[in-house]
Amino acid sequence: MAVTINTLREYKQKGEAFSALTSYDATFAQVVSEAGVDVILIGDSLGMVLQGHDSTLPVTMDQMVYHTSCVAKGNRGSLIMADMPFMTYGTVEAALENAADLMRAGAHMVKLEGTDWMKETISALSERGVPVCAHLGLTPQFVNKLGGYKVQGRDEKAAEIMIEHACELEAAGADIILLECVPAPLAARISQAVKAPVIGIGAGSDTDGQVLVLHDMLGVTTGRKPRFVKNFLAETESVQEAVSAYVKAVRERTFPAEEHTFKA
Ligand code: KIV
Ligand code: NA
Repeated sequence: MAVTINTLREYKQKGEAFSALTSYDATFAQVVSEAGVDVILIGDSLGMVLQGHDSTLPVTMDQMVYHTSCVAKGNRGSLIMADMPFMTYGTVEAALENAADLMRAGAHMVKLEGTDWMKETISALSERGVPVCAHLGLTPQFVNKLGGYKVQGRDEKAAEIMIEHACELEAAGADIILLECVPAPLAARISQAVKAPVIGIGAGSDTDGQVLVLHDMLGVTTGRKPRFVKNFLAETESVQEAVSAYVKAVRERTFPAEEHTFKA
């Protein structure tokens, strides 16, 4: 049966961890989907992983639509989430038009990076039939404001603000919250504070689901490897087995381990 946002809510209620991975093309989407990954993310990380840019900012709407349509062809029942790239949801009107293009290309939901300013946008999308994932913590589209790719929510004041934002965005209509690079105790607090499933990357093992960039978990990433990444291909014989090992490790909560986690 195809995965929907209801499936993810059920996982959360039962306390069963679910997995997500990026894919950008039909072949990997099929591999990932057939391995039982619940959510496929067409991440704007493709700007770095596929295009070689040093940030996600150059990625365009047309490129996201193209990759989303490729992924949709290979998908075998996973929930397809597509990133809205930098400045394509700067106004509510732009967000509605651009999200519609991603949904027409085969996305089941969209992901937006930001904080409380997105409330109106999320409500507008949600009310018109577009489920939204709100990405908080280290939001790579904000790298120039954040002054680098750094762990977020480290002091108590920042932590409380992030919890508040997660609750406000859920109230506005966000169906999923995604937390990137936040201390594990904060991610656990947010996962408890909201009813919406929380997906983590570099956010410890107490979130409801986990996500990684496919290239990172296959160990083919060039350049600096973040702390939260694990190479699953190193212990297996094939890409298919590596993805299955990831699904199993997430389900059993053996990934992420301490060594992949930010404590504070
Ligand atoms: O673009 C991406 O791959 C992402 C994940 C890292 C969450 O947003
Ligand atoms: Na992204």
